[in-house]
Amino acid sequence: MIKAENIRKHYGKLEVLKGVDLHIKQGEIISIVGASGAGKTTLLQILGSLDTMDKNPTSKLIINDVEISKLKDKALAKFRNEQLGFIFQFHQLLPEFTALENVCIPAFIKGTSKKEAEQKAEKLLEFLGLSHRFDHKPDQLSGGEQQRVAVARALINDPKVVYADEPSGNLDSESAENLHQLFFTLRDTFGQTFVIVTHNNEFADMADRKLVMRDGNLI
Ligand SMILES: Nc1ncnc2c1ncn2[C@@H]1O[C@H](COP(=O)(O)OP(=O)(O)O)[C@@H](O)[C@H]1O
Ligand SMILES: [Mg+2]
Repeated sequence: MIKAENIRKHYGKLEVLKGVDLHIKQGEIISIVGASGAGKTTLLQILGSLDTMDKNPTSKLIINDVEISKLKDKALAKFRNEQLGFIFQFHQLLPEFTALENVCIPAFIKGTSKKEAEQKAEKLLEFLGLSHRFDHKPDQLSGGEQQRVAVARALINDPKVVYADEPSGNLDSESAENLHQLFFTLRDTFGQTFVIVTHNNEFADMADRKLVMRDGNLI
């Protein structure tokens, strides 16, 4: 599903990723742990096509049989919108919009009709236990609820892969545990692949595979 080979990244003179190799199978839940500054976010951003790796003839990123590094801007944006989902530490919901509207946005970008997007968003929010929160704005929701809205937003276009960067980093322990359980339920229900950076050791150990990042390498 994901084949990353010799992923390198410099920021100026600083070498942040030093040749990461990573193969992930469809439906796997992968956790990535490591000290702050190890390069986890940079790796996730590159795997998610939100950042670019250094150009190198032996470097490759293939997701779902598509070689990402060869896509032009427009094709890449389409691929990202339709095949990848993102969940961040701070939910990054748009404050002016309701939960339902926030969830619909990636579907609108894809070109889904308003009616179809809303039906899908309602179904997802119901699945996530938020049927009574459609019309709430983010600041009217708890941290755990905000993060579940962000999960629904990540899932609305049925992505093949979901990337999450410390998704429970900002949650109380009960909400964090619920969110972690949710990732397994989603994988079992929809078959998605999850790549999750976390500082939560318990959750990291529950994943199908736990990867440790140190100084720009997976060890
Ligand atoms: N846009 C950037 N410009 C310059 N340096 C950066 C940038 N993003 C990250 N870094 C540096 O790269 C290193 C790895 O950062 P990051 O991937 O965020 O680590 P982690 O997520 O593991 O804490 C850090 O030393 C950080 O300061
Ligand atoms: Mg980080």
